[in-house]
Amino acid sequence: MSSKEILQVKKNYKSTKALETRKSFWRNQENRINAEEEFCKLLQLTGTEKILDVGCGYGDMLGYIKAKYTKTTLVGIDNSENMIKTARSKYNNIAFEVADVQKLPFKDKTFDVVIAKHMLYHVTNIKKAFKEIHRVLKPEGRLIISLNTLSSKSRANIEKYKQEIEKTSRYKLVQTVTRINTENYPKYYDSQDFKILKEFKNYSYTVMNNAKPLTEYISTFREFFIPTPSENDWKQIIGKIRKKIDIEIKKKGPLEEVRGFGIILFKKNDYQGGK
Ligand SMILES: C[S@@+](CC[C@H](N)C(=O)[O-])C[C@H]1O[C@@H](n2cnc3c(N)ncnc32)[C@H](O)[C@@H]1O
Repeated sequence: MSSKEILQVKKNYKSTKALETRKSFWRNQENRINAEEEFCKLLQLTGTEKILDVGCGYGDMLGYIKAKYTKTTLVGIDNSENMIKTARSKYNNIAFEVADVQKLPFKDKTFDVVIAKHMLYHVTNIKKAFKEIHRVLKPEGRLIISLNTLSSKSRANIEKYKQEIEKTSRYKLVQTVTRINTENYPKYYDSQDFKILKEFKNYSYTVMNNAKPLTEYISTFREFFIPTPSENDWKQIIGKIRKKIDIEIKKKGPLEEVRGFGIILFKKNDYQGGK
């Protein structure tokens, strides 16, 4: 990922709005599981762990854990100041800090659990992030991550229209799903560092009778294009996409959007030379 692309992604997360819109789109899906609940199920927490959430956004994962396990010690980091500001205002019993997952401001062997929920695909150097997480985990500590699946079924309309914007305009799309996903993640970490304990996948779907929800979702990606389209340009681009989706629905009937995502639970391996 180039430094230009990183800056673009950072712009998208400057405010919580785009993330909130995307999350509310998925919230209404059929066969949807509650990701926070699934993370907790897989982790089987005892309730006294020290947990770090990297790329915590506005803190809902940790908020969920704190409500269930009041004795856990929780820390959330995100490299967006506004995400951290919002997280602090939502949850005053959790510590939040602005930091980068590639350079964590914590001593070696500090945490029992590290969470990286839907965030690794934005990180410049994903291998470095895995190394840093390994460093701050206690011996036998656990890492839990979630990623999108690469399956062509998953996010098919969203990806199709994002690609179409790139093809029909002068803007270049910053890739996310194709970087790290549930299929290729093993190439990003050292197998000496982590052992996989469990893998979980879920597919959910929404059936749409009109273009509004999908158009709203796609409209949150303005900053994922380089250079950032002007407001006017973006309005026109999104207007065209909306018309196309409407025509597609009229011709073929309700449109289905599938979302595939996976959760992977790892255990830290301690080997000679490892921290
Ligand atoms: C898709 S959001 C996911 C937020 C949250 N984990 C959730 O599941 O709702 C990705 C988050 O990762 C953060 N992020 C991106 N790159 C980061 C980095 N290098 N270090 C820390 N946070 C980062 C973004 O600011 C954003 O809040």
